[in-house]
Amino acid sequence: MTENSAVRLKEITPQNFRECINLKVSDGQENFVASNLMSIAQAKIYPTANPYAVYAGDKMVGFVMYGYDTDDERFYLVRLMIGAEHQGKGYGKATVLQVIERMSRIEDCREIYLSFVPENVGAERLYKSVGFERTGEISEDGETVMRFDLSKLKNNLKNNELSTAVN
Ligand SMILES: CC(C)(COP(=O)(O)OP(=O)(O)OC[C@H]1O[C@@H](n2cnc3c(N)ncnc32)[C@H](O)[C@@H]1OP(=O)(O)O)[C@@H](O)C(=O)NCCC(=O)NCCS
Repeated sequence: MTENSAVRLKEITPQNFRECINLKVSDGQENFVASNLMSIAQAKIYPTANPYAVYAGDKMVGFVMYGYDTDDERFYLVRLMIGAEHQGKGYGKATVLQVIERMSRIEDCREIYLSFVPENVGAERLYKSVGFERTGEISEDGETVMRFDLSKLKNNLKNNELSTAVN
């Protein structure tokens, strides 16, 4: 079993969207990420954004959204959250690895960008641990920007070696 097989990403559907909206982060983390309600609404408005519920087994544990930003013409890991009671179990990292793998299969996608509020040291540690690096940019809303270079990975992926490549 590879490290990123611990979670599965599933479409948001009429059956699971309420559960997704009800997932909440821990106290004190509310400013680190938009609500899932807002993210699902944004995905409706921006069709290049792909929202998914994150499952560990049959249990919904989080939410992630990734896609292409037509304004700055970059691919982004747009949102990531793991519900308060499910944090610290490796699901966040497994989700990021899963998203990297999916995005590496998009032909035009060579780099993945993301941003986080500077106080969010836990998120930065997670992103660093899988290979994201600071670009030195600060986003319009004051967030620290990171980038993952997919070009190194693409060759390894052909040989199905993602988990080796990112560790
Ligand atoms: C950030 C977040 C997604 C991490 O999810 P998680 O499932 O708890 O993270 P994991 O268990 O996979 O942890 C992976 C690594 O991240 C780092 N990490 C995660 N949370 C951390 C925290 N609170 N403090 C310090 N490091 C943390 C650690 O390096 C950890 O590795 P380790 O277990 O070897 O120490 C989750 O805390 C969350 O939803 N936070 C609120 C929303 C948010 O900040 N989203 C990101 C917006 S950019």
